[in-house]
Amino acid sequence: MAARSGIAARPSVLFVSHTGTMSGAELVLRDAVQPWAGSTAFLFEDGALTDALRGQGLEIRLARRRTSLAALRRDASPLSALPVLGRLGALVLEIARAARACDVVYANSQKAFLLSAFAARCVGRPLVWHLHDILDSAHFGRAQRIAQVSLANLCATRVIVPSEAAARAFVQGGGRRSLIRIVPNGLDLDRDPRPAAALRAALGLPAGPLVGVFSRIAPWKGQDVLIEALARLPGLHCIVVGAPLFGENAYAAHLMDLVAKYRLSDRITFLGQRDDVPRLMQAVDVVVHPSVDPEPFGRTLVEAMRVGVPVVATDAGASAEILDGGAAGTLVPPRRPDRLAAALSELLDNPEAFATRTGLARERALSRYGADRMQRALADIILQVAGRA
Ligand code: UDP
Ligand code: GLC
Repeated sequence: MAARSGIAARPSVLFVSHTGTMSGAELVLRDAVQPWAGSTAFLFEDGALTDALRGQGLEIRLARRRTSLAALRRDASPLSALPVLGRLGALVLEIARAARACDVVYANSQKAFLLSAFAARCVGRPLVWHLHDILDSAHFGRAQRIAQVSLANLCATRVIVPSEAAARAFVQGGGRRSLIRIVPNGLDLDRDPRPAAALRAALGLPAGPLVGVFSRIAPWKGQDVLIEALARLPGLHCIVVGAPLFGENAYAAHLMDLVAKYRLSDRITFLGQRDDVPRLMQAVDVVVHPSVDPEPFGRTLVEAMRVGVPVVATDAGASAEILDGGAAGTLVPPRRPDRLAAALSELLDNPEAFATRTGLARERALSRYGADRMQRALADIILQVAGRA
């Protein structure tokens, strides 16, 4: 097969995803499959991911009986799977049938992995799990962590993680270290040539100091901490970009309550889900990444670094790795609106003092976190497990 990015993509791969919604893991998958045109994607549900993968030249197989796995939440008891056990079994069989025609099975999510593990076993195919999560108690219930790690130890040929932090959590949870390969996420994006002020005007954003948060709305992404920080910083405006993609509507309502409580409605603009994040980032003075639980990676950090906008992020999970321990961005402790407010005012009061660091961050993003580098590393792993390295 002709490889589009110079990778000899000979084996045929079955990429499996449980969701059709595009959050970070699915954006990574969209970019990761670029050299694998002609391979197949098995999707549990239809969504934006279907077109994205089809656009990369993958053949799409949609599960015949769409089974929403939304009820199987990360902290749910394994017993909650009982009512849908029959349908899960049917899904395993479907994946196994698709896997028979492929050389390697590549599961891109935790739920996809759980079912692919049985399917790959049934048909004797090597299984790669691209684990985009931190398997710790902040993110998953104990029973789920044990089930995932045990199944990985038994059935996975490789477990790919995007950061040291994710690798550590997997091993601390009992996962075999030898399974792990760390492949940092990589991405490409175009910078808008317009200066921030022109962009801001074109986007209808307010003049004056402006910060932004660019993550899906979810409790662990910590938008509430930024709102609390804003209450301490009179005169500062903020855009909140992103939507509750996976049913976090109660948290979205909580954010609105906070805005009302602190009377911030004229200083915070909620823009919802957008497809022009890098452009919006370039229009703000600082990108804030306030996750309260460890972040497995955080594409948003790299996007901000790439477009050359200073970042303030919480020191939880992979942020410190990406921001070079604070040399490429400011790190603050999680759940500390006071510390976040102090860091923001320091940056906004004296942006020149941070210019060198922002330049370093951009260099770092370009040299370490490009899409091509990620695609090559992933391809090496796939070729190895297919026995064709
Ligand atoms: N994103 C987007 N539109 C939005 C909000 C976020 O396209 O309105 C993108 C963002 O640019 C980033 C991704 O969603 O590429 C989020 O990935 P990340 O790894 O930061 O976090 P996740 O949401 O996957 O935990
Ligand atoms: C997950 C993680 C995020 C990571 C993304 C891609 O959605 O929450 O930190 O960047 O996957 O690996």
